[in-house]
Amino acid sequence: MDERQRQTPYLDAVSAYARRNPARLHVPGHKGGQGADPGLLEAIGEAALSMDVPALTHGIDVGVDPTPFEEAQRLAAEAWGARRAWFLINGASQGNLAAGLALAHKGRAVVVQRNAHSSTIDSLVLSGMRPTFAAPELDAELGIAHCLAPETLAAALQATPEAVGAWVVSPTYFGAVADIRGLAEVAHARGVPLIVDEAWGAHMAFSDELPEHALSAGADLVISSTHKIVGSLTQSAMLHFGHGAVELIGEDTVDRAVTLTESTSPNSLLLASLDAARSQAAVHGSELLARTIATLAQAREEIRAIEGLDVLDDRLAGRPGVFAYDPLRLAIDVRGVAANGYELAPLLREVGDINLELYGENVLVAVFGMGERELGEAARLVEAMREAVRRVGLEPEGRKASFAAAPPWGELAMTPREAYLGAQEVVPAARAVGRIAAESLATYPPGIPNVLPGERLSAETLAYIQDTLEQGGSVRGASDRLLHTVRVVVE
Ligand SMILES: Cc1ncc(COP(=O)(O)O)c(C=O)c1O
Repeated sequence: MDERQRQTPYLDAVSAYARRNPARLHVPGHKGGQGADPGLLEAIGEAALSMDVPALTHGIDVGVDPTPFEEAQRLAAEAWGARRAWFLINGASQGNLAAGLALAHKGRAVVVQRNAHSSTIDSLVLSGMRPTFAAPELDAELGIAHCLAPETLAAALQATPEAVGAWVVSPTYFGAVADIRGLAEVAHARGVPLIVDEAWGAHMAFSDELPEHALSAGADLVISSTHKIVGSLTQSAMLHFGHGAVELIGEDTVDRAVTLTESTSPNSLLLASLDAARSQAAVHGSELLARTIATLAQAREEIRAIEGLDVLDDRLAGRPGVFAYDPLRLAIDVRGVAANGYELAPLLREVGDINLELYGENVLVAVFGMGERELGEAARLVEAMREAVRRVGLEPEGRKASFAAAPPWGELAMTPREAYLGAQEVVPAARAVGRIAAESLATYPPGIPNVLPGERLSAETLAYIQDTLEQGGSVRGASDRLLHTVRVVVE
């Protein structure tokens, strides 16, 4: 570990400003706490409020070069092995928005993994890019989508010779990690950058026990939701630019796009938390992660020992679309008990105040952080699962059956941007067949969008979504969650 990584220049500069009791003749109006509502002051404390310092403060992000802010971003780039890193204050969502806007300087066609996060689709709306979607590998048994296989990316790029980039997700919510080396090779062979939404994998750079992280495997632009597992404050994230990316995507265009997508008043607490989380990850990450990984391995064993339950783990590696497994979440397969994930999640809240990150029909996902509090949470989860299964009993037929694959997505009749901004109307679902959607419809399970803005709606797709709803699933993105109506483009 580089000794420099112990430094936290931005955190130190903001703390020093707060301590020296400056005349704060600038925003924010709470003036370091004195002007704050007493309830807020009591709840979050004067220490936090005094560190809430605006941008363009001398000695923090302006003044002698490199400023503490520049130095903090430089240390982050070194920690992740990037050529450059940007601190983001609007989450990994901002990273996706900026990535699309930067790519659009090169052209308008892009290959995108179909089950990308909604912020990637929003980026297509903002940038006006025309996507060619590539299907991730589907796990019909578990009812979830894994990652994109390199062959699938190769075929999509072949079909889109004008593409200026390839955009994939790894790891998934469920811990599947893509073959980034393979994907990077495919993208680079066609002269385009590989953008990886690694929102769920910021921690992977800090332990040899974990799969290789995307930058190290050859990705060019990596979106990293530092707040998720590494533990900076909610809404803070980073965007990393790879050493080999200069030929493929403009560093300056990424910089402009980051500026365009952020507030002119970035929150200093968020930025300081990024600086601190980076230092903690670089200095102590390996040891903290080793502890978390060991405790989660034990929790997995205990959950597997409960009749009716199984867990997702590195046995998944090698299945289509799963190159490796990231164990930093505990994904529980509940197909063997007489309740689905939607029913179990509230029961777990009732039984043990267990609040999960995500739940679907067949799988519950508990997320663990890099520096868990001695992992008491894992033991609580195991205990509550035991009690929940005792209450609901076992599935009489053994494991629940696998689910039917969704029909193919419709023809892209216009770009997501044209559909989003164009004239639109709301029509009964029965009259939406053949119309162009102005909104996304994504059924859970497995969460892959069935319809995106700009795509033509088919009778099969609408029937499939209705069927999923009737079986207790849900649809995300729809303005009418029961899908009695759909928002479509006026043609
Ligand atoms: C794959 C993926 N990308 C991006 C995001 C957006 O991250 P954030 O909430 O930090 O904006 C998420 C959020 O869950 C995600 O799962």
